[in-house]
Amino acid sequence: MKAEADPNLIVYFGGQYMPLGEARVGILTHALHYGTGVFEGIRAHWDEAQQELFVLRPLEHYERWKQNCGILRIVVPPSAEELCEITLELMRRNAFRTDVYVRPLAYKSAERVGVSTDDQDAFAVIALPFGDYLHADKGLHAGVSSWRRIEDNAIPARAKICGAYVNSALASDEARHCGFDEAILLNESGHVAEGATCNIFMARKGKLITPAVTENALEGITRDSVMELAQRELGLQVVERAIDRSELYVCDELFFTGTAVGIAPVVRVDHRPVKDGAIGAITRGVQQLYFDAARGHMQTYLKWLLPVYRSRNTREQDAI
Ligand SMILES: Cc1ncc(COP(=O)(O)O)c(C=O)c1O
Repeated sequence: MKAEADPNLIVYFGGQYMPLGEARVGILTHALHYGTGVFEGIRAHWDEAQQELFVLRPLEHYERWKQNCGILRIVVPPSAEELCEITLELMRRNAFRTDVYVRPLAYKSAERVGVSTDDQDAFAVIALPFGDYLHADKGLHAGVSSWRRIEDNAIPARAKICGAYVNSALASDEARHCGFDEAILLNESGHVAEGATCNIFMARKGKLITPAVTENALEGITRDSVMELAQRELGLQVVERAIDRSELYVCDELFFTGTAVGIAPVVRVDHRPVKDGAIGAITRGVQQLYFDAARGHMQTYLKWLLPVYRSRNTREQDAI
């Protein structure tokens, strides 16, 4: 989905809440020229029945963000808990009653020419109403990209480093020009790494298999949620191992996972149907569990959720 952002949305920028239209960076900003930023993607889901907006695993996202900023030696001063509070405040100031995507961005902010970095860092948190990223209701057609996934010793794929997304953009653009919905990237060893903006899972012989994060894949938080749901709720064995390209052609089920894409079934790969070309039972099971967990329908997974409006009410009551 390509969302046009409303300039009146309230964002957190330069330590203040302000309209998106006023949050501006200079043309010489280091990150704009050299890709020296680290971003995150967090979802919040609106549940109509409970009249509540649930932010999904924000603490884990902010902990990952701060860790990954460390790779570029970018300092984000607030703690992960304080960043969760900023996020809640943003949701409330925007009075969101819909699904939302939160985009934290930290970057090298010096305005000068020269690639070497210094300690001038800045960060922002932007929250936007956001629907489906990929339209995957009937399943996606994925294509193996001619672009290889970036290597850890070039630009670490485990972090959401701005410059690294040139790799995803090239693969994604190629996939769409070739008529695919999404790209699958192989690493330099020829093994499956992940999708352009998502992790990948394959069901084969009753097991759920996903590449290890050492295959040059992002350490996905949805991936982690799916592993827990599949093991605990579906009793499935989840294996992290290398996946050959040709296994994509002989597997039983295939799906992508990610904050933006959610759980997206893949029903064709490189013009070959996955099994019989229909969405499989394991994929449907995982989709349903993830949907329920993310919207506060499952007691066990309330631990993943930060309610936007209820937490304020609870605090207000505590204060009385
Ligand atoms: C390259 C890449 N892989 C995987 C993911 C999925 O990660 P997560 O589930 O943490 O959103 C994303 C998106 O966030 C991504 O950009």
